[in-house]
Amino acid sequence: MKGVVLAGGLGTRLRPLTSITNKHLLPVYDQPMIFYPLQKLADAGIREVMLVTGGNSAGDFLRLLGDGSDFGFRTLNYAYQVKEGGIAEAIGLTRTFVGGDRFVVILGDNIFESSLAGTVKAFERQPGGARILLKEVDNPGDYGVAELRGDRVVSIEEKPKNPKSNYAVIGVYMYDSTVFNIINDLEPSARGELEVTDINNAYLRAATLHADILEGWWADSGCSIDGLLQAGIMAKKLRMDGSR
Ligand code: G1P
Repeated sequence: MKGVVLAGGLGTRLRPLTSITNKHLLPVYDQPMIFYPLQKLADAGIREVMLVTGGNSAGDFLRLLGDGSDFGFRTLNYAYQVKEGGIAEAIGLTRTFVGGDRFVVILGDNIFESSLAGTVKAFERQPGGARILLKEVDNPGDYGVAELRGDRVVSIEEKPKNPKSNYAVIGVYMYDSTVFNIINDLEPSARGELEVTDINNAYLRAATLHADILEGWWADSGCSIDGLLQAGIMAKKLRMDGSR
């Protein structure tokens, strides 16, 4: 199992904090934001990781993270996303790194309490396909939203005006290597990006998408200043409790 962390984007929702740096380098309590997803991969036993970033601060990630040995990684690889082509485009850049393996993608601004070890194990037991994580939230319209029938996902909509549930699809995705064929066939959305929600819906149509509910707290620290603050408060509480 390989790991991918996405750390591109312009971070416009966090300006002016992101006017001169990448949002994933901002502090969340006592660590740069990017440390949290990397640590989640490390804690799940993943040792081969690729970080995808872009923009003017890409070199800062190398200075900060180096070869990834501080996280216990065997290799930390880097890819550069030239344009703001979306999450799915960024995942497409990892094709050579991933090869025929399976992998876990974490959006670099998603910070959460639970370990990924259990859900990664469940994904390993799947014959193939994809696995996503859901979390009940008060503001589903800010996220990808899963429509549920019982505990089955029947559709996913990206930032819908009239959400069909309160279950956000959080920024942790597990894929087999067929994802790269799916990405090849994607068309840009109205905002001109290749959407991760379109990837997940392709797996849904193939009846190979599975979902778990994420336990514990979750913060999308890049979605607003309040999200960033909330993540810092939760990270502090966890540190006080003696866990990560
Ligand atoms: C992205 C995804 C969205 C997902 C969210 C989780 O949105 O497009 O489906 O729910 O991450 O953080 P973004 O926050 O990049 O707009």
